[in-house]
This record gives sequence, structure tokens and C-alpha cells, in this order.
Amino acid sequence: MENQPVIQGVIAKNCQPEGCREAVRQQINAVQRSSFANAPAKNILILGASSGFGLATRIVANFGLLANTLNLSFEKPPSEKGTGSAGWHNNQACQAFAEEQGLTSINKVGDAFSAEFRKEVREIIKEHFDGHIDLLIYSLATGGRPDPESGELIRSAIKPIDEPYQGYTLDLEHEALQSVTLQPATPAEITDTVKVMGGEDWYNWVQELQEEHLLSNGFRTMAYSYIGPEITHAIYHHGTLGRAKQDLQQYTDRLNELLAIQGGGAWLVVCKALVTKASVFIPGFGPYLMALYKVMKQQGVHEGCIEQMIRLFSEKNALANPTTDDQRMIRLDDWELRGSVQGEVSELLQQATPENFRTLLDYDGVRQDFLNLNGFDLMSATE
Ligand code: NAI
Repeated sequence: MENQPVIQGVIAKNCQPEGCREAVRQQINAVQRSSFANAPAKNILILGASSGFGLATRIVANFGLLANTLNLSFEKPPSEKGTGSAGWHNNQACQAFAEEQGLTSINKVGDAFSAEFRKEVREIIKEHFDGHIDLLIYSLATGGRPDPESGELIRSAIKPIDEPYQGYTLDLEHEALQSVTLQPATPAEITDTVKVMGGEDWYNWVQELQEEHLLSNGFRTMAYSYIGPEITHAIYHHGTLGRAKQDLQQYTDRLNELLAIQGGGAWLVVCKALVTKASVFIPGFGPYLMALYKVMKQQGVHEGCIEQMIRLFSEKNALANPTTDDQRMIRLDDWELRGSVQGEVSELLQQATPENFRTLLDYDGVRQDFLNLNGFDLMSATE
């Protein structure tokens, strides 16, 4: 019998380990049904590989590109007190499935911002990855990091800038849409959010690996970003998270220059809005997600993280000559931003209320994804 989900606000306090394994298995199946060109990248380092977009990337890397992966994440193992985090079980499942197929998939759990952890990762690359990596994916999402100099915790604040934001937010615990007012961020909150979710840490990772000669010739790196349609700009693109993503874009250019010396490059990949542990945390974003799911499903263009990552490494040619926009960004949000999608999304959002959102929008789909992220509601066939 499955244990029941314990949800507080938008956080699941437990998970269903067998369901996590099943979710991983389903993603592997999706990858194995797709085809990929022979990949030049054989050793891939993924930061944030235990859930969401990073997990999907890891699955494509192992089971689609047949590459070796080193997978970093910050997750909790099971203990007497609880099931541990879903990401912990995703890691275990990925590794076990990869080993069954003779593939290398090493998990390293710890704080990617810590100097000691980074040193340990470099040692693993020397020992298990022939001393070099070909591709680094930066898919961390976190609410805080230690200050590199003082060690003090810096926290991000997901807020608008200049103007207050008023709207609805989705409370998964109470299955309700609640009114929310967010005051504009202070200058310090903006700086801190950029420090946590911007590009500095990504740059430092690559630079340190380069200094230690652990990057192959032609090495590439990619980080995941979001822009979104105008309707979300007040809470995302023009807010603190948007500032952090603009910072990430500046660091993409710097990294691209740094890597040009060895024939490599850096790209920003703009993904689609999806339910993940990180995105359900963004106040005011839930209604947009529910409307987007509804419309994209109706139009037959809905994708999950795994379909997005399959598209990145096939159609978008991430490892050869990537298809980009005029700012060198790889756009996996192209279907999300279609006029035909956004027109219907805006209409739905104008009609949505706390009374009708469960039927008007794709509340069930969003809730289902949230439960599945934590391994719930996936095992009914085998119970
Ligand atoms: P997620 O919450 O599913 O995954 C975050 C990953 O980061 C997990 O593997 C977690 O263990 C790891 N992590 C967090 N703190 C860490 C630390 N200190 N050390 C090591 N690992 C740590 O998040 P999601 O949504 O997959 O986000 C990944 C990236 O994709 C982010 O940059 C996000 O902004 C971007 N993105 C997300 C979208 C969405 O709708 N979910 C849309 C577009 C971009």
C-alpha cells in the first residue's frame, strides 16, 4: 500500500520511493523511444540532477546519448524519521537502471556551493571520468547559498521590483486559490537573489574545472532559464528571479568567451514553465501553470521535462550547431509562447476565480504532476 502524501503549503514532506523509481522508469522509456545523433559528449556533469529539468537531462544523457554522468544534488536520505526526499530516490533509481545497462551514473550529494564539495567532485572526475568532462549542465534551483567569503547564508526573495504584485496563488495543501499581495523587493533582496540564482556560481564552477585542466577540447556548458509571456512578467521576468536570469545571460557571454580558447562554448537554454519542486514555490505562478497546461494539452503541444530535454538534444542540436534565437538562446519555450497558446491562456486567466479554477483550468493535471514528482499516484497498476 502507498503511504499518503503529507503536503504543507506547496511542499511535500514525504515521498513514495517505489513511485519515484516508476517515474524514472517512465522517463527512460520516453528517451528510449526517441533517437539521437551520435553524441560527441561522453562525460557529462549535471548540477541539480535529482529532479525537474536536471533529472530529465541526466536521463537523456545516460539512456539517449549513452554518456557517463556525474550527478550532483542536495537531497535527504531515508532515516527513522522519514522517507527521505524524492530526489534521493530518483538518484538511486537512475543509478541502478544505468548500471543494469553498463552505463556510468555516479551520484554525489552535497552542497554544490561549498569549496570542499567542489574539490571532491574534481577528484571524482580525475578518478572515474578519464580526467575530463565534455559537457556541464547547470540546473540548480535553490532558495539560499552560503556567501563565498563570509560563509553566511544568503537567501533569495521571489518578489516583484518597483511595483507591488497582486494576484492569486495556488495552495496545494488546501487545494485553494488564495489572494496574494507581494511588496516590491528591496535593493538588498534583489542583490541576494541574483547572488543565489544568477550566474556567478556557474562561472566559478567552469573556471575552476578549466584551471585544473578537467575540461575537454570543445567543452560546452548550458544553464536553464525562463522568460515567460508578458502576463507573468510582473512576478518573474521583471521581478527578482528575472534579474537573476539576466545575470545568468551575462555570464553565458563571459563563459562563451572563456571557452572559445579551447573550441567550446556556453549557451542559455530557455525552458517551458512546468510543475517542479522549484516552480510551485513561486508565488502567483500557479494560475498561469494551470492555464498553460490546459491550453497546451488541448492543442496537443504539452511537454514535460523529459520531452523538453529530448528536444534539446535532438531537434535543437545542443551538441552540434544549436538552433538559437538572435541572442544565442536555445528556445524550448517556443511552443509555450506561440500566439495561439498565449491568446487562450490570457482568456482563461481573466475568467479564473477561487470558485471555478478546479474545472476551468487544469488543476487536476498540475496536482497530478506535483504528486508524481514525489512518487505518489504512480503505482496503482502494480499495487
Ligand atoms: P528542481 O527543484 O526540480 O531541481 C533543483 C535541483 O537543484 C535538484 O536536483 C536539487 O537537489 C538541486 N540543488 C538545490 N540546491 C542545491 C545545492 N546547494 N547543491 C547541490 N544541488 C542543489 O528545479 P527545476 O525547476 O528543475 O529548476 C532547474 C532550473 O531550471 C532552474 O534554473 C530553473 O530556474 C530552470 N527553469 C525551471 C522552469 C520551471 O518551470 N520549473 C522553467 C524554466 C527554467
